[in-house]
Amino acid sequence: MQTALRPVAADGHGSEAIYREAVAILRAGGLVAFPSETVYGLGGDALNPAAVAAIFTAKNRPADNPLIVHVRDQEHALELVTDPFDRLSKLAAAFWPGPLTVVLPRAAHVDKALSRGLPTLALRVPNHGVALRLIRASGLALAAPSANVSGRPSPTTGAHVLADLAGRIPLILDGGPCEVGIESTVVDISSEVVRVLRPGHIQAQAIAQVLGEQVAAAGTATLHRSPGTRYRHYRPQAAVWLVDDAVSPHEWASIQKQLNQAPWRWGYAGQRTIQDAEKTSQVHLPRDSDRFARHLYAVLRDFDDQGVALILVDAPARSAANTAVWDRLEKAADVLLKDSSEVSGLLAKIPSKSSE
Ligand code: TXA
Ligand code: MG
Repeated sequence: MQTALRPVAADGHGSEAIYREAVAILRAGGLVAFPSETVYGLGGDALNPAAVAAIFTAKNRPADNPLIVHVRDQEHALELVTDPFDRLSKLAAAFWPGPLTVVLPRAAHVDKALSRGLPTLALRVPNHGVALRLIRASGLALAAPSANVSGRPSPTTGAHVLADLAGRIPLILDGGPCEVGIESTVVDISSEVVRVLRPGHIQAQAIAQVLGEQVAAAGTATLHRSPGTRYRHYRPQAAVWLVDDAVSPHEWASIQKQLNQAPWRWGYAGQRTIQDAEKTSQVHLPRDSDRFARHLYAVLRDFDDQGVALILVDAPARSAANTAVWDRLEKAADVLLKDSSEVSGLLAKIPSKSSE
């Protein structure tokens, strides 16, 4: 299958012929990747079992990991779920369209394959001109997981999607880079206790405020977590080490010296000084949480494209605003490096890892 990458305006205007093509594919049960404000999604008709099955195949997605459904608005959502605790209107008024996914009891007529047999369904209204136009023009609810091959960092540009899914899907709408850069917050409001299953740009605190209720944070008890959070996730090909803030300039020099003796190049995303640019590619990853989130996945993918064996990333501050990026980094990284004495032991693991 040939994959077309078609540029469209991020505000969802223009390109009539391209949207006609996209809608025709979706109505026929095919797949179209599209930008959202968080990451690119791989969309298919949520109520067509063949389209849902095709999403799992294209992404190589574990069979028990349920999908998020993208809808036009709250009313559209309530065609697919029920709202037993009357929480949706508050959350929708505050956060939709936006990067908040709610989990609610699935309506009886909705295919259980969507949520892989779970009695609930995850839904959101994306805040992106292209995504909203696609939902409205097709008249469909769009099941859409992130448009990466499972286990890879989520795509934040059309080129990232093409790199993962070329030959597997017919069409990618390229609306430029995503604003938020990491996946939506997933909050379960289907039962008594409100629980954040996956942290994202919208923080638990903000949800608690809008609901006037306590919100439990994503726990470590697997039972209470989104099925998707169990898998090995967000892994670039290279090994990833986080560099603790407390690493002194002297220790940093010693770390670099050891790394520069290795037979490969390494990548560094952060603000420290690099001594030997021959062995290293450096990119600037802003400390500010929003910009860190926006660029993180692109940085990991770019380093992979350069073929580095190891990526060092300056660890962000441990703040509430960084909860979501820490969640992703903990899945991507092998270690939080506190000083240079750990380096030789860790280096021994690199060759076997990169040939995995
Ligand atoms: O920002 C996003 O959410 C992006 C864009 C495309 O909307 N989508 C996305 O989808 O990240 P995906 O499939 O990569 O992640 C969906 C997450 C998984 O962790 C999955 O387990 C969880 O949502 N999820 C889906 N349905 C669920 C349900 N019924 N109960 C609990 N968790 C659910
Ligand atoms: Mg994903």
